[in-house]
Amino acid sequence: MTERIEIPAQFPGPGDVRGRRVVLTGAGRGLGELLAHAFSRAGAHLSLVARTEADLKSVGDALPGPVLRFSGDVRDEAFNESVADATVAAWGGIDVWICNAGISPAVGGPLKTDPAVWRDVLDVNLTGAFLGARAAARVMGEGGRLIFTGSVLGERPARGLAAYSASKAGLVGMSKALALDLAAAGITVNVVAPGWFDSPLAAGWKSNDRLEQSILNHTAQGRWGHPADLAGAYLFLASEAAAFVTGAVLSVDGGYLLK
Ligand SMILES: NC(=O)c1ccc[n+]([C@@H]2O[C@H](COP(=O)([O-])OP(=O)(O)OC[C@H]3O[C@@H](n4cnc5c(N)ncnc54)[C@H](OP(=O)(O)O)[C@@H]3O)[C@@H](O)[C@H]2O)c1
Repeated sequence: MTERIEIPAQFPGPGDVRGRRVVLTGAGRGLGELLAHAFSRAGAHLSLVARTEADLKSVGDALPGPVLRFSGDVRDEAFNESVADATVAAWGGIDVWICNAGISPAVGGPLKTDPAVWRDVLDVNLTGAFLGARAAARVMGEGGRLIFTGSVLGERPARGLAAYSASKAGLVGMSKALALDLAAAGITVNVVAPGWFDSPLAAGWKSNDRLEQSILNHTAQGRWGHPADLAGAYLFLASEAAAFVTGAVLSVDGGYLLK
């Protein structure tokens, strides 16, 4: 008789984050605000991080579940460590850390890119994410999940965005290295790479007809990402169902990288 695969008695739910303790950076608006709602409605406890206190208050007040708020800068090592310590003190641990804070100032070619802006973008998008990962790795144990918000521009750059593309490509390399480093501790490390989502960060692109047309032409599905399109990838990676997924880049882009 042919050997059959052993069927588990139960399959973990792909978006089951009930009771999971989640640190989410860049939570004050845009995609982070969206993720805060998705995780909170799915039953997670949330530690919200951004610099603007008023944004954290309005996002936190609208969530159904338990919330902590930390206003500070992800570039600050001590701040990241204090978020880790205060979250553990409040909830006894951290299960998921989502490094989502990011900036994308409008620049231009190399001669128009002020080196100070280059450093800023790398500091927030890459070093800030590393400092979050470092704080998370100190306190997370078996079953821990590190998730970085990358971008399709890390794989397919756009003109005038060298710093941004470098930061997001850097996140992919860093996450794969961290996936190796943290595998023995039972922590998975993955990147979600959104395509073009309608959000304040992308407003400049959307208001420029030529750029918008080029984005839509490249996106196989021919449309911008809707808010409801994004969270499923994060919920999946944060859940038990993704226990064997590490070092991956999950693009949520309507096929932007195909064309
Ligand atoms: N929108 C898109 O289409 C798109 C596509 C691909 C990838 N992404 C990525 O998705 C992430 C979120 O983008 P978004 O569109 O939601 O941007 P957004 O609307 O500008 O929101 C960015 C969030 O990050 C916070 N933040 C920025 N710098 C920070 C710092 N130094 N320390 C702490 N928090 C900081 C901001 O709050 P404060 O300014 O108050 O600190 C804000 O809450 C970014 O990593 C971005 O690169 C976006």
